[in-house]
Amino acid sequence: MQIEWKVAPHSEWQVDALIFFAFEKPRDYLPALREFLEGPGKWLADCAALTDFQGKPSEVAVIYAPRGCGPAPRIILAGLGPIERFETERLKNASAFVLRKCHELGILRPGIALAALEGFACVNESSGLGPCTLDALLRETLAGAMAGLHQFNELKTKNSLAPPSPESLTLLCNKPPESSLREIVAVARCEVAGIKLARDLTISPANRVTPAFLAQSASEIAGRFGFKIEIIDLDTARSMGMGAFAAVASGSAEPPFFIILEHAPPGTENDAPLVLIGKGITFDSGGISLKPRDKMEEMKQDMAGAAAVLGVFEAIGAAGLAKRVVGIMPCTENMPGGKAYKPGDVFRSYSGRTIEIISTDAEGRLVLCDALAYAAERFKPALMVDIATLTGASIIALGRDVAAIMGNREELVGFIRKIGASVGERFWPLPLWDFYFDALKSEVADMKNAADRGAGAIHGAMFLKQFVPDHVPWAHMDIAGTAWTDKDSGFSRKGSTGFGVRTLFELVRRSGEL
Ligand code: BES
Ligand code: MN
Ligand code: ZN
Repeated sequence: MQIEWKVAPHSEWQVDALIFFAFEKPRDYLPALREFLEGPGKWLADCAALTDFQGKPSEVAVIYAPRGCGPAPRIILAGLGPIERFETERLKNASAFVLRKCHELGILRPGIALAALEGFACVNESSGLGPCTLDALLRETLAGAMAGLHQFNELKTKNSLAPPSPESLTLLCNKPPESSLREIVAVARCEVAGIKLARDLTISPANRVTPAFLAQSASEIAGRFGFKIEIIDLDTARSMGMGAFAAVASGSAEPPFFIILEHAPPGTENDAPLVLIGKGITFDSGGISLKPRDKMEEMKQDMAGAAAVLGVFEAIGAAGLAKRVVGIMPCTENMPGGKAYKPGDVFRSYSGRTIEIISTDAEGRLVLCDALAYAAERFKPALMVDIATLTGASIIALGRDVAAIMGNREELVGFIRKIGASVGERFWPLPLWDFYFDALKSEVADMKNAADRGAGAIHGAMFLKQFVPDHVPWAHMDIAGTAWTDKDSGFSRKGSTGFGVRTLFELVRRSGEL
């Protein structure tokens, strides 16, 4: 779907449907709707359809205008819920529901007046999402519209009957918009391209999205945007000393790949890069420490971290950001089998440190520890962020709408939280006090890969911390809860969410502020 501007007097606006947002009754309407009802939309003011519209979240009403009346044959009202609970997420989801309604009805060219995004105030500061600037409101509206329409249909055979998707969303205004608003359109388009890619890769079954498929996707992105790419196979990884990564791969018949993408536009080649590392377990059966069968199919999502990194590179490429960024994706299945690694085994990681395996289901930290140590040594990063569906414990701690964040610099963790909030992704910090390492001490090796009980998300991060040199600022995002959703939010259908793409893209864009 294209985003188009129409700069013209109101009288010249013409779209297939005109969109307004409204809070839940009994509140006043937002200024744009109020003015419309007093002007070209007088007919609507005493329409039963308007009276019946409650403004609940996810509520969408399509109201048909008398023939030839005003700028559109249809008015679409979208609910934002109670005004006192407003945050930008509501607008993002409402926008998604509107565009889906357009899709359902075959409405090809809906429009929205920029003025319809005025008069908002984020009353609910405590929820942590914001801000309520026009730039941010437009960005959420567009992100919601574009990402909300997205659906993974590639494996369905009966697609042809669906009505066509909206061709364009027109932004209507009567004077030229600020340049920042035009930039926001481009930013939203780039981030949504990344989100869609991440969602498609994550929801795709593990017999399609194998490590080889991820390597192929990375090559395709690299080719399209001119990124450097290296794809390291198992023998090479092993000979380089990546014993932890190789251990996880040993039970799988699918060849694993350790993928390195690098964006170093002219003039940035010698800058210390931002390194993004994504867990790429294309299927996590648990290995010999086999998972229970219930919902095991959802473990195709265990490469959501790698998918997010690829998504960020898609966005960075599309936006042409002039920053040096490296993406590292250790990709493998985690399978049981005659050659699989076993509880009790000890492996030497890339860092030289030895690891005793307690659970083969704590595999994410094993592939990540080699990636972290390798990245720190080779790239001398300005900062490193890893993103991983690492622990079920993070879901127990924070639920499905909030990701855990930990790291070795409070400023970095705080910055990511702030940036995440600005693009609708919530992160909550957990502590990494040194004593947490006690539970990872091993009798036979330098450490074990899992602790006995409690603080599972912290122990996962604490394990990773051992492989990050102190001088490298590092943060770890545990997205086990947020990468996948069982409920349709509007912005995201059931299944993969693409969580993390927006925050990491924003982190790259705004890394200068750190
Ligand atoms: N991939 C899982 C974590 C996960 C769980 C992701 C649910 C998404 C949804 C991870 O590899 C895992 O199995 N973690 C174990 C760690 C434990 C063995 C220390 C866990 O959380 O139980
Ligand atoms: Mn696991
Ligand atoms: Zn896993």
